[in-house]
Amino acid sequence: MTKYKLIGPITQLISMDGLSLKGALKDEELPIIHNGGILTEGEHIHSIGDYTNLLEVASSLDAEIIELPSNYVCLPGFIDVHTHICFSGSRANDYAMRNSGKSYLEIAKAGGGIWDTVTNTRAASQEELCHGIIKRANHLLKNGITTVEVKSGYGLSVKEELKMLRAIKDANLNLESDLIPTCLAAHMLPKDYDGNHQEYLDEIASTLFPVLKEENLTNRIDAFVEQSAFSKEDIEPYFEKAIEMGFDITVHADQFTPGGSDIAVNVNAVSADHLEASTDTEIKTLAESNIISVALPGASIGLGCDFTPARKILDAGGALAIASDWNPGSAPMGDLLTQACILGTFQKLSNAEVLAGITSRAAAALKLEDRGKLAPRMLADFCLFSTDHYNEIVYQQGKLTPSLVWKRGDVVYTEN
Ligand code: NIG
Ligand code: FE
Repeated sequence: MTKYKLIGPITQLISMDGLSLKGALKDEELPIIHNGGILTEGEHIHSIGDYTNLLEVASSLDAEIIELPSNYVCLPGFIDVHTHICFSGSRANDYAMRNSGKSYLEIAKAGGGIWDTVTNTRAASQEELCHGIIKRANHLLKNGITTVEVKSGYGLSVKEELKMLRAIKDANLNLESDLIPTCLAAHMLPKDYDGNHQEYLDEIASTLFPVLKEENLTNRIDAFVEQSAFSKEDIEPYFEKAIEMGFDITVHADQFTPGGSDIAVNVNAVSADHLEASTDTEIKTLAESNIISVALPGASIGLGCDFTPARKILDAGGALAIASDWNPGSAPMGDLLTQACILGTFQKLSNAEVLAGITSRAAAALKLEDRGKLAPRMLADFCLFSTDHYNEIVYQQGKLTPSLVWKRGDVVYTEN
């Protein structure tokens, strides 16, 4: 079996390598190789560069040559750093009620909201949840997403959160893409819990956290910091316990009211996600930290709310990733590229900022150092779009989907 493969010629090979992690990016900064090639060695990239030069290297290595017949633009495999694709049921009714002017409280009273999804997810088997994740991750894969973060958070008891995280682990074994699991047991206080917020979080930390370690289910802990969910007083001790046990922290922060991003900074979280309600004060604090700010335009589109102030975050010197937040409540669409491009139009982001938000900067939001850019020793995860210029990809707002998706050195999706 040939160990090496050379793919090319590629009209524009955009490696995303060498771009700064923080601050504004201009399109002129994008590293583009014209008439490029990618030489893979097993799951990894051996080298990238000029196709004609690589042909010589390839012949000395006896590489398989995979010649592309027409114009292609190549980008690193996209990374969706925030999803809730482990769920059962639909919240189409919430969506209709919201659009007819019903408030969050009215919807919750009518049986909607997160708790509705908890009820449906608890009623589903681990196997059913696993199938749902596989179906949704494969939809993402066709759109070029080769790494997907997936949260629990619709179980809200030790047993049910474990069911979700085990379903995510099972799905990961049956997918081409990589799933990165996160425990979001602190999504809301379960309505059937006999105790207060702190008692619930104490139980999760003392009973669930050790099993997460034992079964290697996740090394990431998330929480929804909001008036309707958990307060600073509740969540800081919970995060401290998680940190003591070696977990990384991420926060659902500043979605409707500011507050969560401050906690993210205090506990040195890896990312603060949402930030639709962040003011200049939060933006400055985030920009001065090492935290990756994650915009979730799918939630703004789903809820009809303001977008995350992405332009201000970048201009203040922050690091910005963009994710889909795919979930049945606030972000039912799940099309990352479409959403990132729409965020770009409303927030006046350069194409470089949009693309970095779902590649190199996204990798940092999950602390993944082996992907998000095309360079030697990186995973050979990339997508090829049938066009001659990367501008077309952003301009078509997700309508132009990849013709080919490569994952760990193999073609895993070919457009018909
Ligand atoms: O990221 N904000 C909290 N959690 C999800 C929504 C979950 C739901 O409504 O089911 C979010 O938007
Ligand atoms: Fe979310």
